Amino acid sequence: MRLEAYGKALALVAGLLLTAAFAPAAFEWKLPPGVAPPPVPVDNPMSDAKVALGRKLFYDADLSIDGTMSCATCHEQRRGFTDSNRTHPGVHGDPGKRNVQTLANVGWHGALTWGDPGVKTLEAQALIPIAGSKPVEMGFAGQEAVLTARLAGQACYRKMFGEAFPEAGGEVSMSTIAKALAAFQRTLVSFDSPYDQRRRGQAVVASAEAERGERLFKANCAGCHAGPLFTDADKPRFHRIDAPFAGDRGLGDVTGKAADAGRFRTPSLRNVALSAPYLHDGSAPTLETAIRRHRAAMRLGNREVAELVAFLDTLTDETFVTDPRFSLPKPGCGP
Ligand code: HEC
Ligand code: HEC
Repeated sequence: MRLEAYGKALALVAGLLLTAAFAPAAFEWKLPPGVAPPPVPVDNPMSDAKVALGRKLFYDADLSIDGTMSCATCHEQRRGFTDSNRTHPGVHGDPGKRNVQTLANVGWHGALTWGDPGVKTLEAQALIPIAGSKPVEMGFAGQEAVLTARLAGQACYRKMFGEAFPEAGGEVSMSTIAKALAAFQRTLVSFDSPYDQRRRGQAVVASAEAERGERLFKANCAGCHAGPLFTDADKPRFHRIDAPFAGDRGLGDVTGKAADAGRFRTPSLRNVALSAPYLHDGSAPTLETAIRRHRAAMRLGNREVAELVAFLDTLTDETFVTDPRFSLPKPGCGP
């Protein structure tokens, strides 16, 4: 009897030790005070190993069929994870349909892309550039097996998929590739601009022009570019601002409803000073032009638009665009 109890206790201790040895260390978000982590799908928990793998994949041109293009080719960190083109051609010269979106705080967006409420998770979105065909970007449509074989053929990736997906036996599949990319992108957090620092009570002074711009912004713009995300994409909402939309009807192309023609998801304005040109088709070369395309700006004079631009400049987060955790990783196989 006593022996039996002793055995049970031993088994329990051994069990606890085993759990401790095999459970991955809890992921540490390192978010600024007052910011809750973004939603994470239950079947794709965060881990350091997965984020490291996602970062390596994000910067790897092996994710395009001809080895010339990575996610970072279009999403450049120094431009807030956008690029400077109106649209960015894919590997086969397809001209591209829309302006590259920022990835700052993308983990909080409830619908992804400029106009499709059906793309709800980063896991689902990641497969669009890799294997989509409207437009072709990285070129693996129908040839997904080429990509998984290419990655599984590299010792470094075998090790990293093993560490990131122990429950799946380190399988290299479109699903694990998408999950790792999603985990990395959930860490792309931008809350350290002069605007944020001021809100946290740090000694950062805004110009009188930017302060007037902030008041104008609250009155005219914050209904859609709402809250600390500067978008209502967490809800998500789609609006027609009265900018031209010839050839791309945004939400209207997805729902087929005339009332949805020209409605797009509100873009985040974080780091917007770094991401010219603007709007879904990149047709606005400057912030002034982008603002002028809004019905909401009709009553505003040139001076007020300049004040709004001065305010938007305070949303540039130098920490975010230079953070080494988000940059091209060193060659090698680990975090
Ligand atoms: C050829 C350029 C190009 C490449 C390569 C590319 N993207 Fe994009 N990305 C875009 C464009 C353009 C959009 C907007 C698409 C739309 O609205 O239809 C976008 C949108 C996104 C979004 C949605 C952001 C939001 O707020 O809704 C995410 C996330 C994203 N890309 C991640 C990735 C990942 C991950 C990769 C690599 C697997 C990648 N992209 C490769 C051009 C590119
Ligand atoms: C009714 C909702 C709404 C209001 C109000 C609004 N916006 Fe927008 N904003 C949008 C949408 C939607 C887009 C994308 C439109 C498109 O691409 O055709 C956009 C685009 C932008 C862009 C371009 C961003 C980029 O990355 O391309 C800027 C800059 C901008 N808005 C600033 C403002 C300012 C400043 C105000 C206030 C004067 C304002 N917006 C008011 C919804 C709104």
